[in-house]
Amino acid sequence: MLPLHLQPESHVPLYIQLRDQLRALVHAGDLRTGDRIPASRELAVQLGVHRTTVANAYAELESEGLIRGHVGRGTFIQEAAAPLQITPAPHPAKMNGGVRWESLFADERGEEALSRLTQAAPRGAISFVMARPASEFFPVEELRKCTNAVWRREGADVLQFGPSDGYPPLKHVLIEMLRSEGYDVRDESLLITDGCQQALDLLCKAFLRPGDSVITENPTYPGSLAIFAGARVRTLGVPVKTEAGPGTTPGVDLVAIEAALMQNRVKMMVLTPDFHNPTGTTLPVAERRRLLEIATRYQVPVVEDHIYARLRARGERIPSLKQLDRSNLVIQIDSFSKVAFPGLRVGWIIAPPSVIDRLRLVKQATDLHTDQLAQAVLAEFTRRGHLARHIERTRKIYSARLAALEQALARCMPPGPTWTRPEGGMCVWVELPPGFDSTELLIHVRERGVVFAPGRYFYFQDPHPNTLRLGFAGLGEREIARGVAILGDVLRTEMHKRQRGTRRAELARVALV
Ligand SMILES: Cc1ncc(COP(=O)(O)O)c(C=O)c1O
Repeated sequence: MLPLHLQPESHVPLYIQLRDQLRALVHAGDLRTGDRIPASRELAVQLGVHRTTVANAYAELESEGLIRGHVGRGTFIQEAAAPLQITPAPHPAKMNGGVRWESLFADERGEEALSRLTQAAPRGAISFVMARPASEFFPVEELRKCTNAVWRREGADVLQFGPSDGYPPLKHVLIEMLRSEGYDVRDESLLITDGCQQALDLLCKAFLRPGDSVITENPTYPGSLAIFAGARVRTLGVPVKTEAGPGTTPGVDLVAIEAALMQNRVKMMVLTPDFHNPTGTTLPVAERRRLLEIATRYQVPVVEDHIYARLRARGERIPSLKQLDRSNLVIQIDSFSKVAFPGLRVGWIIAPPSVIDRLRLVKQATDLHTDQLAQAVLAEFTRRGHLARHIERTRKIYSARLAALEQALARCMPPGPTWTRPEGGMCVWVELPPGFDSTELLIHVRERGVVFAPGRYFYFQDPHPNTLRLGFAGLGEREIARGVAILGDVLRTEMHKRQRGTRRAELARVALV
């Protein structure tokens, strides 16, 4: 059976999704010249779509010369599908007298992964969907003063083109901050980005070719999946242990990492050891050392996503992979997004100088440099001590919100679901009893004015439909309590319905016997 997954909720028409996925299978070599593909009727049944959807996708691929139908024999991948053969661009089909833009789009490459999460919550809803900072505590007045100071002092400089590796005053304050935290960082080992999302994109462009393999957690942050899918990178998923019990530790499964490294030529690992998104788990220090020992043995670099690490709510601080690294294999990416303001789009990468040299060129080709005003304002904000104070303040606020969420879950959830106990960050991961689908639960919960992120958004293989993520940082304690009370109430009702259904089926079975 072909690995095809259509998304009916996407704005991309189903036939375009199918066309793109089939084309991608051909280019990846999974479908080769002469291979027979299923008849449209058969594939329509398999995918649960109308036959015309498949017929339209096939018609497009046939007009591109990628497939050919032979009466009585079936439809086959064509010779012309050989990767380097140039086929004339298809004429854009016209619809209602205009160009059908969808038929001109490049292959869909998994960008949808992120857009599902960033969809706006209904007005007035209590939204646990996002893992984002609390905007009511943004120190707008301090930022205004910092911005004015920047305009007065260096207004002309920030309005000019700047260096691709970052605005020097920002690099300077970041180096001071990072050194005070114990990092051995110099100007040559630091590059400013438009946030961690861009850091992932630059690293992908610098290191990964189509078909290369990357290890990452499954579930994981969908933004990294969108980047890997776009680059045609093979993503190998490693499970995350969500429960710490006797003999188990939370965080990414190191045994699975080692197995994946043994069986594949892996180019790099991309992991979030602190307050992992979406599970909230943190990898203990002994496991970090073991992970580095494994990475060193296999000589595979680790990209450490450090975006949540400064948001520790409780427990002991754990050294980062970068701080523990003795083999120079760790590249750390970080950002102002969670500790300060995601709207300013500024982050950074710490890496060996030769890697930064390469990334500087890639960054230049991508967007020349990060917005200089945003960099200069954040430099001023950090230099004046506001960043440290803001982190301290929001850490306490998020810690109280996390406590409120845990208390509400303990008070309101019916027996059955379990949830993670993060020591910081912005999200808690809930596992409903097996057989429950959080997407269905969301329909009922949404009717009562509450929304969350279904767990399936974060998986790229073997999704666990009974999971969901609760982002708590952007919600006040009262809203958290109200939202969880509704969630618990709806879940209890759904569990009762299910129990009644099972009992009725059981009685019917007994009656039949
Ligand atoms: C794990 C992780 N990495 C990266 C990002 C993107 O961060 P930025 O806003 O710095 O691009 C996010 C945002 O939610 C995230 O959760």
